[in-house]
Amino acid sequence: MNTQKRDTFRSKFGVLAAAAGSAIGLGNIWKFPYITGQNGGAAFLFVYLGFIVLIGVPIMLSEFIIGRKSQANAYGAFKRLGANGLWRHIGILGVLAAFMILSFYGVVAGWSLRYITYAIQNSSNLTPEQIAESFNSFITNPTQPIIYQLSVMLITGAILIFGVQKGIENTSKILMPIMLIIVVILDIKSITLEGATEGLDFLFNPDFSKLTFHGVLIALGHAFFSLSLGMGCLITYGSYINRDNNLLSTAVNVSVADTLIAILASIAIIPAVFAFGLEPSQGPGLIFITLPNVFQQMQGGLFFSILFFILLTIAALTSAISIMEVSVAFFHEELKIKRRISVILVTALTSMLGVICSLSLGIYSDYTCFGKNIFDLMDFISSNILLPCGGCLISLFVGWKMGQKMVEKELEHGSTVKIWFLKTFIFIVKFVAPIAILIVFVSGLI
Ligand code: PHE
Repeated sequence: MNTQKRDTFRSKFGVLAAAAGSAIGLGNIWKFPYITGQNGGAAFLFVYLGFIVLIGVPIMLSEFIIGRKSQANAYGAFKRLGANGLWRHIGILGVLAAFMILSFYGVVAGWSLRYITYAIQNSSNLTPEQIAESFNSFITNPTQPIIYQLSVMLITGAILIFGVQKGIENTSKILMPIMLIIVVILDIKSITLEGATEGLDFLFNPDFSKLTFHGVLIALGHAFFSLSLGMGCLITYGSYINRDNNLLSTAVNVSVADTLIAILASIAIIPAVFAFGLEPSQGPGLIFITLPNVFQQMQGGLFFSILFFILLTIAALTSAISIMEVSVAFFHEELKIKRRISVILVTALTSMLGVICSLSLGIYSDYTCFGKNIFDLMDFISSNILLPCGGCLISLFVGWKMGQKMVEKELEHGSTVKIWFLKTFIFIVKFVAPIAILIVFVSGLI
C-alpha cells in the first residue's frame, strides 16, 4: 500500500470540471450528432435521455462510490473493497480498455487538431468532392496524422505529469468554461441561419416510426461511452474526490452537463447542415466532411470553423486525460512505478498503439480481423465488449458485493440519503442495469 498521501481534487467545481471533462468528448461532438442523424433525430434523443437517467446516472454513482470508498485506482479498488476470486480482476478490463480506447481516440483527436490548422490555412473554394478527398487522403497518409496524434498524446502526458490537482483539475477548470462559451456562440450562429428550423424540427420533433431496435441498442451503448462508464475512469476520479462532496449530486450534474453539451453540439451542427441543404445522416464524416462544406458556404465560415475545431480538440483532450489517468494510476499504485515514470511509460505505450491504429487506415489496411481493420477493432472491442462488460460487473459488484449498508455509509459523506432513493438505486444496480446491459451486449455481438 502507498503510504504517501494521495493527491485529490481541491474544490467542488474542480471535481465537476474534471469529471465533466472526462465525459464530454468526441462522443458528444463527433459521434452524438451523427448517430442522432442516422437514427431518426428526436426519437433517438428521447430514448438516449431515458438510458442516461435510468442506467447512466446509477452506474456513474456506482463508480464514484467504489473509487471514493477504496481510495485506489481502477484495479486496486476492487482488491481494497475485499473482492475475492474473479471479482478482484474486474479492474484489469478497465486498464485494458483504457489502452485500447486511447489508441484510436488519440488518432481522431489528432485529426481535430489538424483541422484547426487546416481551417486557419483556409484552403478555400474546394468542391464537396475535393473536401471529402482531402479528408480521406489525410487520414490514410502514413506520416501526417501520426504527427498530430503524437502531439495530442504528448500534450496529454504533459498535463498528467503535473498530477491530479495541478494537472487534471486546473486544466479542466480552465478548458471547460471555454468549451461552453464556444458551443453557445456556435449555437447562436447555427439557429440564426436561414432554413435552420428544419434542423431544429429534426432534432426535437420525435417521429418514433424512424426508431429501430438497433437504434435503441446504439443509444444505450452510447450512453456508456459518453458518460465514460465501464472502464474505471470514474472510479479513478472518484478516488480523488474528498469526503465532503455529495456524490449523488456530482453524478447528476456531470450527466446533465454531458447531455447538455451533446444537445448543444447537435444544435450547432444539424440546423446548419440542413440550412445548406446537406444530409445529417452521413456518419463519421459528418464533422470532417459535411461540416467543412457548411463552413465554406457560411458567412464568417473561417472563424466559426476554427472555433468548432478548437471546441472538438478541447473536448477530446480533457477526455484523453481521464483515459490515460486510469493506466497511470494503475502503473503507479499497483506496479509501484513513480508517477512521472508511469506517465512517460503510458504515453509511450499508447502512442505506439495509436500509430498502429492510424496506419491501419492507410498502409496497414490489409491487416484485418473479423473484417475490421485495427482502428475499428480497437473501437469495437473496447466500446462494444469491454465497456458494457465492465459496466455490468461494476453494477453487480456494488449491488451484490458491497450491498446497501456500505453504499449508504459512503453516500452519507457530504449528503443525507433518503431511504427510497437508496432502495431504488440498489434495485437498479442489482437488476435493471445488468439485465439491460446484457441485452445490449448480446444483441451487439449478434
Ligand atoms: N466520454 C468520452 C466521450 O464522450 C469518452 C470516454 C470513454 C472517456 C470512456 C473516458 C472513458 O468522448
